[in-house]
Amino acid sequence: MNSKITVETIRAMKARGEKIAALTAYDYPMAKLLDEAGVPFLLVGDSLGMVVLGYPDTTHVTMAEMEHHVRAAARAKPNALLGADLPYHSYETVETAVADAKRLIAAGAEFVKAEGGREILPQVKAIITAGIPFCGHLGMLPQHVLEEGGYHIKGKKDAEHQALLDDAKALADLGAFAIVLELVTPPVAKEISQAILIPTIGIGSGPDCDGQILVTNDLIGTFPWFTPRFVKPMADCAGEIKSAVAAWKNNLQTPDK
Ligand code: KIV
Repeated sequence: MNSKITVETIRAMKARGEKIAALTAYDYPMAKLLDEAGVPFLLVGDSLGMVVLGYPDTTHVTMAEMEHHVRAAARAKPNALLGADLPYHSYETVETAVADAKRLIAAGAEFVKAEGGREILPQVKAIITAGIPFCGHLGMLPQHVLEEGGYHIKGKKDAEHQALLDDAKALADLGAFAIVLELVTPPVAKEISQAILIPTIGIGSGPDCDGQILVTNDLIGTFPWFTPRFVKPMADCAGEIKSAVAAWKNNLQTPDK
């Protein structure tokens, strides 16, 4: 059996120049399959709101829903590092941030992720002080999609570019072990990745991040009704499901003798 992946393993991958493959897993079978496929970084993302629970965006996801899915994924006992998103409204104050991060850890997560930079530093500091590994999330912040009126690329304007860099440095200085960069312009994502010692995990942010994360459902085609522009699906599992079901259904009419 391979040795357990920890936050130190993930940091060491950047130091060695080894790309970090990261994917979302929201339940037992997917966590187990991705772990068996050798993915070192698994996230019970609040993207589960859209691709599993049928919400229009992540702002509807509750702590209870996150805990339920973290428990399911954790039952796979993955060798991979397993983290979980703090959902919308769960880290508005230092007190709720720590209490909710502890709930996700109690459910089986090994780190928590929250969206934001310097504006959430007190919460991040309190989470890390409580001994909970923390992953940042900068760039497009899906929990702010309603205020922002959509999923927009970040870092095009000088002020945005500088703010992203400052936020990344602040999170790294505080002790975050990694930072997800979502929809950040590739040159800015590259600059951030070079400016900090902890790994950047990109999503729609170009090839120069230290790792890449995708929503697994987008990668394997189990959510065919919407695929982000930056994803190249590697399988059509929705098509496979429909063909398998159609074959089974046809067989009911004309069973094999
Ligand atoms: O919610 C999520 O799944 C995420 C990743 C895609 C980065 O935040």
